[in-house]
Amino acid sequence: MPSFVSRRQRRSCDQRKVERVSVTASAPAKINLVLSVGPLREDGYHELATMFHAIDRRDTVTVESGPSGSGVTLSVEGEGADGVPLDDTNLAARAAMILAQRTGRVADVRIHINKTIPVAGGLAGGSADAAATLVACDALWGTRMTRTRLTELAAELGSDVPFSVHGGTMIGRGRGEDLTPVLAHAELTWVIWPNSLGLSTPTVYAECDRLRGDRLIPSPSIDEAVVSALRADDPRLLGPLLSNDLQEAAISLRPELADVLAEGDGMGAIAGIVSGSGPTTVFLTENEAEAKIMSVKLGIFYPDSPAFVARGPAPGARLED
Ligand code: C5P
Repeated sequence: MPSFVSRRQRRSCDQRKVERVSVTASAPAKINLVLSVGPLREDGYHELATMFHAIDRRDTVTVESGPSGSGVTLSVEGEGADGVPLDDTNLAARAAMILAQRTGRVADVRIHINKTIPVAGGLAGGSADAAATLVACDALWGTRMTRTRLTELAAELGSDVPFSVHGGTMIGRGRGEDLTPVLAHAELTWVIWPNSLGLSTPTVYAECDRLRGDRLIPSPSIDEAVVSALRADDPRLLGPLLSNDLQEAAISLRPELADVLAEGDGMGAIAGIVSGSGPTTVFLTENEAEAKIMSVKLGIFYPDSPAFVARGPAPGARLED
């Protein structure tokens, strides 16, 4: 099994271990091209079939050895930093602790997160921080985990964290942690419109259950046509196939999201959809030029939550020089 850190990186990390005690890694935001939500399981999760797609908006995490006995300390700057918990409920702190525990180390580490991914936005920002922390601490401590082992630890932290480690475009099953690569590559350009008021993922799943009532829910699935559209590398084929079973629940909790989707439609997006559990909405566009025009227009309508252009697929968690 290939190790997660390349030999060249590892040499430089080993050198850094001696010379300095700080390592930086980054991980991408994700959107779901398809999010098919099946029945509620006995463990409180829903059975999913989802197609994850990483985009080139990344959080950066720097880890630094702290004094003996200092434990894990956290600091956060950047987009929505005020909304990020600084205690051990933070996924990045939990990532450092789980890696330390499983490798017999003491987690005396300072973690600094630089956020560009909106918080509680349905873009897996917390999962990205956890994935980047796993990769950074692995290099800082020289624990040399394989990618497979890192992915297993990631799955213990949250359903989306394994994908944040891998990146690209992948199908997730189970609660989202059981990943298969999509054997198709399409470069996609998106307009991402965050919403300053986050939505809690469990609340959106609970609303989905409430709206479903007693209805019998089929097993989740992904239409093979989605993979064909990616193979054809044609956003016009993909647009009508984007789907999200949590969208109705997100709109039920935030009715204004329906207006945003209609607005994007009117501005010439190929398709618009709520990302994950929301409230971020994402719009598939024809190309970079169209995306830029649309993000400027959205900025005029909603100056308080500026939209941005993003491209996918993007690589998963990785060390930064
Ligand atoms: O795995 P993670 O901690 O990210 O999940 C957060 C919450 O989202 C879960 O506690 C659960 O309420 C909901 N969830 C779910 N089904 C999934 C994934 C998440 O119901 N497959």
